[in-house]
Amino acid sequence: MYCNDMKYIVGNWKMNLGIRESIALTREILRALRGKDFAPSVVLCPSFTALGEVSKILARTRVSLGAQNCGPEKQGSFTGEVSVGMLEDVGSQYVIIGHSEQRALGDTDEIVNSRLKTAFNSKLTPILCVGESAEVRDAGGAYEFIEYQIKNALQGIKSLRSKKIMVAYEPIWAIGTGNYATVGDTVEAHAKIRELVTQITGAKDENISVLYGGSVNGKNAYSFLRESEIDGVLVGGASIKLKSFKEIIEAGCEVISAQSV
Ligand code: PGA
Repeated sequence: MYCNDMKYIVGNWKMNLGIRESIALTREILRALRGKDFAPSVVLCPSFTALGEVSKILARTRVSLGAQNCGPEKQGSFTGEVSVGMLEDVGSQYVIIGHSEQRALGDTDEIVNSRLKTAFNSKLTPILCVGESAEVRDAGGAYEFIEYQIKNALQGIKSLRSKKIMVAYEPIWAIGTGNYATVGDTVEAHAKIRELVTQITGAKDENISVLYGGSVNGKNAYSFLRESEIDGVLVGGASIKLKSFKEIIEAGCEVISAQSV
């Protein structure tokens, strides 16, 4: 069975916090992690406008910075897009790609593929989001749908060599609804995703991380994080409130310290 000790907690702040609020929350999160010997890898994804300030606060800490999207090409005439080079410049190490909210606004599989290829040609680690709608799930086609999304996103990407890839399994019906997936279904989906990504890219186990996202909160985080198939969580709503995000971090710390004995 697959087993990787690293656990990721990614906070996706979406279009919620301004610069001042982002600075304040970042400082509190660092305070919450202070003195912890066993801590998960925390990645904060603020809005583009707050990346610079959050980056300064995160410098020389163990918390990483991520962006919520990247441009489909390295540079050029793409009004409104932010390039991977610009994200590297500002200190980003991760980038979310293909979030269902961006797909709903018009990101096709083809655009997601371009963004992902561009990210692979940079120093950023992409977090590719996939997940089925309620209709697809009710019709019994959840896995086929995820498979289709992953194959399309990885089109033309044959070998990742030593590159890292993160896939976030985020069923659309679970995002922001309070209606999260069962741990059992998530573990099953993650195992299939891992197998598929390995098959397509030949990436080594330790370079593939599969995260779960969709109504993760302080109460359910532990039950997801303790599973070896679940390398971490992508958190939206509960990541912009200090209390719930601290609880999720705490759950990650508990899982890691339990694994270390
Ligand atoms: P949620 O969002 O935690 O609010 O459900 C997750 C996401 O969209 O990444």
